[in-house]
Parts: sequence; structure tokens; C-alpha cells
Amino acid sequence: MFNSRIIGLGKYLPDNVVTNDDLAKIMDTSNQWIVERTGINERRHIVKGSDDSPSTMAFKASKIALNRAGIKASELDMILFATLSPDLYFPGSGVLLQELLGISTCPSMDIRMQCSGFIYSIATADQFIKSGMYKNILVVGAENHSGGLDMSSRGRAVSVIFGDGAGAAVLTRENDENFGIKSSHLYSEGKYAKELSLIGPSTQRWVPEIMDANDPNDESYFPFMNGQMVFKHAITRFTEVINEGLKFNNWESKDINLLIPHQANLRISQFVQKKFGLSDSQVFNNIMNYGNTTAASIPIALTEAWEKNKIKPGDKIVLAAFGSGFTWGSTMIVW
Ligand code: ACO
Repeated sequence: MFNSRIIGLGKYLPDNVVTNDDLAKIMDTSNQWIVERTGINERRHIVKGSDDSPSTMAFKASKIALNRAGIKASELDMILFATLSPDLYFPGSGVLLQELLGISTCPSMDIRMQCSGFIYSIATADQFIKSGMYKNILVVGAENHSGGLDMSSRGRAVSVIFGDGAGAAVLTRENDENFGIKSSHLYSEGKYAKELSLIGPSTQRWVPEIMDANDPNDESYFPFMNGQMVFKHAITRFTEVINEGLKFNNWESKDINLLIPHQANLRISQFVQKKFGLSDSQVFNNIMNYGNTTAASIPIALTEAWEKNKIKPGDKIVLAAFGSGFTWGSTMIVW
């Protein structure tokens, strides 16, 4: 019986910093509103016409992760690519990343679980490694949100939140069962699919239909979010799924060395921190600088926490996410 373990992390953020004041110049919003409601100060947006895309950003993050893991791309047995904003409608971004990494053939799978995508991907990689089928798996999360947001005042409740970026983790086989991924806990509830969704373009609202309608008020190709409903479900599900992971492993909240919640809203992270009685040093947040980067948010935060020496061997690390679907999950790790 093997465990799986993360042995290399990397992140990539586009250079272009967009502050709250920058947004206030193009839509009816303010630095004060955004900071008070979300905790976000700035986010990164891909500059139109640049080479940055989900797969190229993932490539840059992956190169760093592979280098830190001491593994060549050719030694990877599988790629799992979490994104809600793939480069193309099809094929998935995983195969584009495979080509960029110079791997002639290997399984590459896109995971479409939005903000929970990285947790689902880690759980999937863990199972392939535990079964003995694969040894080295690259898990990435990458998003290009900025290209598809409604940057007018109409879209302000959604567009101020999201940012672009990529994070990557290399997992490998671990023979010592005391270390590595201890458990993952995954959920979805499709009843709420439309509360946080993007309807068109899709087979529900195909491109020709949108073009035929030629309606300047058509909002269907921008993300829709019922913010307050998402918020309420998020704080409940975060709490439940972290509790489940703690109980499963016989851990208590005081045992957590670092909780890295999906960076959806600083107020959600603060609620969860308070609920579990965690100190500031037990919770890592960086939404202030990057906004919500959906599937990329946990691997970016995990990488940054590791780079800042906030993660040490033997530490108990908890990852947790909630997002569109609704989907949610947690992963418990001994580093
Ligand atoms: N600037 C100024 N005013 C704004 C803005 C803005 N950017 N956006 C909305 N407002 C206004 C609204 O119009 C409303 O005005 P009104 O009272 O006159 O009608 C007022 O501010 C309050 O709006 P609410 O939507 O009630 O604001 P709320 O406090 O709920 O905050 C937010 C909105 C930040 C979106 C919050 O609901 C939230 O974070 N929800 C959860 C997000 C989340 O967790 N998403 C999951 C992950 S994402 C994924 O999976 C893809």
C-alpha cells in the first residue's frame, strides 16, 4: 500500500496588476466596497494579445514545480488539469500542457470542478498513485477569467472578484504511510448548478444562437453568481467538510499547522477561521493580492505558503474548497 505525496510546487501570475482603483475607473465600484466585502486589494489580469493562457501559465508553473521536485517532464505518468476556463472548448487544456512539456504520450485529463477542481484533482491523483497504477502525477489549476468577465457596471458583483493565474503540484509515491495525502472528502450538489454558472456558449446556448440574437443586453455568456446564496452555502459546507477530515484522521483543530482555504472571499476564510478557533498563523490567505483564481487558488496559495517557509515536514495541512456546482471538498495532508 502506497501513499502519495507532494514533492514540488510552482505558481505563475501574469505581470499585469489590476487594482481596485483601476476597476473603479471603468465601472461603478470603489476600493472601499471591494475591500470591505471581499478583502481583495488587487488581482492579475492577462494582457490581451500576450502569450498567457491557461495552458501556457500552467506550463510556467509546472516547470517550477517539476524543477523543485527534481523530476523531468518525461518521468510524469499523468497530467490532471483543473480549470473552468480552458484554452479551447475542446480538446482540454491538459493535452496542450502535455505538448508544451514535450511529453509525446501520457494520459492528460481536464477536471471541470471549478473552485473545487484542485481538491478533486489531488484526490484523483492520490487514488491513481495508491492503486499502484502511476508513480508521478502533475496536478495543475489554471484560469483565464479576465477574458470573459463583464467589465461594465452591470457585471461588477462578479468581475471585481476574479483574477488569472496558475499553480502546479507534483505528486509521487510515498512508502511511509505516516506522510502524504491522508484523506480527501468530495461532494457536489447539482441542485444549485445555475446559481454560479456560465450558460452561453454551451450546447444549451450555442454560439450561432447568440450571434443570431445579436442582443447587446445578452448576459448569458458572462458568469452568473447568486453571491449571497453561494456565501451561505460556502460557510456551511467548508465547516462540514473540514470537520469530516479532522474526525476521519482523529485530528483536532488545534493540531492544524496550516489551513489553506480556497480563496473565494476573505470574509469566508475569516468565518471558517473563527468557527474552528484557529489563530492567524494557522490560516493562509492571499486573496488580497490575487483575487479568486478558482481552480488555481489553492495551488497558488500552497506554493506561496511553502515559499514563505510556512510549511515544514511533518506539518498537518488542510486544504478546503467550495464553488460552482455546487461542489466542495477537503484534503488532509501530513507534509
Ligand atoms: N461595487 C459596488 N457595489 C456593488 C458591487 C461592486 N463591485 N457589486 C455589488 N454591489 C452592490 C449591489 O448592487 C448591492 O446594492 P443594493 O444594496 O443597492 O442592491 C450591494 O452592493 C450589496 O450587494 P450584495 O450582492 O448583497 O453583496 P454581498 O455582501 O453579498 O457581496 C459578494 C457580494 C462579494 C459576491 C459575496 O456575496 C460573495 O463573496 N459570495 C460568495 C462568492 C464565492 O464564494 N464564490 C464561490 C467560488 S467562485 C466559483 O466557484 C467560480
